Amino acid sequence: MSRYAHITGWGAYAPPRVVTNDDLSHLVPTTDEWIRDRTGIVERHIADEGEYTSTLGIRAGQRALEVAGLDPAKLDLVICATSTPDYLMPNTASLIQDGLGASRAAAFDLNAACSGFVYALSVGAGMIRSGTYDSVLVVGAESMSRVMDWTDRSTCVLFGDGAGAVVLQGSDRPGGVLACEMGSDGSGGDLLTVGLGTRNPMTQDTLAAGDTFLKMNGQQVFRFATRILAESTRNVVGKAGLELADIDLIIPHQANTRIIEAAARKMDVPAERLFCNLDRYGNTSAASVPLALVDAIDAGRVRAGDHIVMVGFGGGLTWGACLVEWSISPRDRAWPLWWRGVQWTRYRLAGAKSFLHRADRRLATIGSRVRRREHERDNGTPDAHAPRAERNGPANGRVNGRL
Ligand code: COA
Repeated sequence: MSRYAHITGWGAYAPPRVVTNDDLSHLVPTTDEWIRDRTGIVERHIADEGEYTSTLGIRAGQRALEVAGLDPAKLDLVICATSTPDYLMPNTASLIQDGLGASRAAAFDLNAACSGFVYALSVGAGMIRSGTYDSVLVVGAESMSRVMDWTDRSTCVLFGDGAGAVVLQGSDRPGGVLACEMGSDGSGGDLLTVGLGTRNPMTQDTLAAGDTFLKMNGQQVFRFATRILAESTRNVVGKAGLELADIDLIIPHQANTRIIEAAARKMDVPAERLFCNLDRYGNTSAASVPLALVDAIDAGRVRAGDHIVMVGFGGGLTWGACLVEWSISPRDRAWPLWWRGVQWTRYRLAGAKSFLHRADRRLATIGSRVRRREHERDNGTPDAHAPRAERNGPANGRVNGRL
């Protein structure tokens, strides 16, 4: 029997701090009028100290699980689409998995820049359709403000922070994610970069060259985006055996209203059929599609039975689209207050459990150090079971881990 991957929960979170175009005009030589006219952006949310990609993702994930009415311990997998992870390691999805108390779930990050959420949705739905997993949380979360050069007016006015998430669940009932397509053209990789990585380790030189910040060739990306948005939407609609006229709502990556309007003209569909909320968030990269999806649901634009295309494009260059037959009436997902109380208690317990696990490991580490010191004091030789670095002393002639 065929398995289908349905979206059964959704949630979004944007940090409370709002930065308007006027605020930015005090920082770089720009104006509210320029930003509105050229991009459609009016304001964006920016993460404050103490807020990270993982914490934004946890808030969005909690809301999505609440709507799905799902115990986090029943999740099989957490995928976090992001290009601004908390760390290079550990992955952000594992931090979200821990924060949610999704104790049985596997977790990995997926980086396909602004196409990341659509890629992750496609991977998650594939896992369910293949029978590997039954419940998957797909998160798109970004702290773009942390990789911005706040002196570069051509990029810093465009981006914002936020997160969105959906719960995918398996069912024998036809519907849900009907078709997906993904694509990449790495020859355009240099058009949109955040250069920090193993080619550009963090050094005084890379910091001085600004390689750790986002850099973009805006005009080239604009040209690519208007073409690929229409093309990818057509492809996924064709894959599902439908026509553009069958599509009730298109949720495109939110980068620029001019890109969205040009794509509508190319596809010959009314502009109102493409949902747009970037005036309030700016470009939140992998978070933009789920943030727009949740806003569209809240605005009553999504009903059971609708055919919806989510389509992304971005750095890589990458692009992707998913066509979903929406199977749940958002009105049926208003759970009673006591249920929210149950979820709230679960999250508090998950936090306490995580704290105890960390404390337990810390105590174990301190205990083994104390035992090694005692061994050295009693025998005058390093403990044969101690980590090699401790037995051998400092690395001979090696600086910063380089040969
Ligand atoms: N305020 C005022 N002027 C600005 C400005 C700002 N924030 N940013 C750039 N300018 C200036 C430029 O310096 C340039 O001035 P010059 O002509 O004196 O050199 C002028 O505005 C025009 O710049 P240009 O780059 O041609 O503007 P544009 O119409 O192409 O718009 C973007 C710029 C970035 C808005 C547009 O190219 C874009 O949206 N690109 C796609 C970006 C995108 O989607 N990225 C994410 C992909 S996931």
